[in-house]
Amino acid sequence: MKAIVVTDQAAGTAGMTLAERPEPSAAINDVVVRIHASGFVPTEMEWPSTWADRVGRDRTPSIPGHELAGVVSALGYGTTGLSVGQRVFGLADWHRDGTLAEYVAIEARNLAPLPGDVDFTVGASLPISGLTAWQGLFQHGRLQAGQTVLAHGAAGAVGTMVTQLAREAGAYVIGTGRAADREKALDFGAHEFVDLQNDALSDAGGVDLVFDVIGGEVQRQSAALIRPGGTLVSVVGPVEARPADGLAIDFVVEADRAQLGEIVQRVRDGRLRTNIGTIAPLDDAVAALNPTERLKGKTIIRVRP
Ligand SMILES: NC(=O)c1ccc[n+]([C@@H]2O[C@H](COP(=O)([O-])OP(=O)(O)OC[C@H]3O[C@@H](n4cnc5c(N)ncnc54)[C@H](OP(=O)(O)O)[C@@H]3O)[C@@H](O)[C@H]2O)c1
Repeated sequence: MKAIVVTDQAAGTAGMTLAERPEPSAAINDVVVRIHASGFVPTEMEWPSTWADRVGRDRTPSIPGHELAGVVSALGYGTTGLSVGQRVFGLADWHRDGTLAEYVAIEARNLAPLPGDVDFTVGASLPISGLTAWQGLFQHGRLQAGQTVLAHGAAGAVGTMVTQLAREAGAYVIGTGRAADREKALDFGAHEFVDLQNDALSDAGGVDLVFDVIGGEVQRQSAALIRPGGTLVSVVGPVEARPADGLAIDFVVEADRAQLGEIVQRVRDGRLRTNIGTIAPLDDAVAALNPTERLKGKTIIRVRP
């Protein structure tokens, strides 16, 4: 099968090549999915799991990409809940070969059915950003209607999902980002916007939940804005700043079939919009994932026309 492979961590995304790899086979409780569309997170080349398996052994050449939408083509021993020919989407294991390929072997529990009226490219754009936003807001952040959310990077892949889901849940959303992101953040539903390049973050006032996708100084300043009982949720590594009277948590997103179902239902009925910028075929994936200018929105690789 055709796949994008990486062998050299130091080379980053520039080290990606289009190669011929053996088709994967389904292990216990796996399915094999014939991939139609794949999503990629630009920071993947920095993740240890891109380079090593769960016991730390080198697993290169590895296939990056962890979001997928496609059709089940085979079932592993003992696999239940999905069937051959079914449309699915989901989140591939961090430590196994990923989704920038024609096929992937993946545990069935990491997938959810993809309704027939949702395009594969849309399905492939949802798992990481959608689940990260959902879990950060509702599981870890315990968001309640009427609370105020500070959504950093509000025009980004995660941030646009955070903004929309928080607003739908009845929160007041203050988005942040670069000056150029203002219109997009407001368009995705932020009530107001703090331009991190030109405005003071303290202008945001008190907030109940900070959703941090940036870290560093932005995180430190944000922690000071959290009201008593509030929460700092970070997805960029161990928290470096804690609210004086509140909780701080960092987490890595997990696959969840029920939550994927909630997310895709919102896409179907218009409550949730995706943030897709570029769609490129697998043959052009290396160039598309090594952009020469700042991208607007997520890049999705269309593996099958
Ligand atoms: N732990 C987890 O489970 C998990 C899950 C998903 C994502 N993540 C991480 O979360 C981060 C965001 O992911 P994403 O996919 O949403 O990325 P993204 O689409 O690039 O969005 C990030 C947004 O924040 C903006 N931004 C970054 N640094 C900024 C700064 N200093 N000032 C103002 N704006 C800034 C970016 O602008 P520019 O494009 O101009 O930089 C972009 O609009 C990544 O580090 C990713 O690895 C973690």
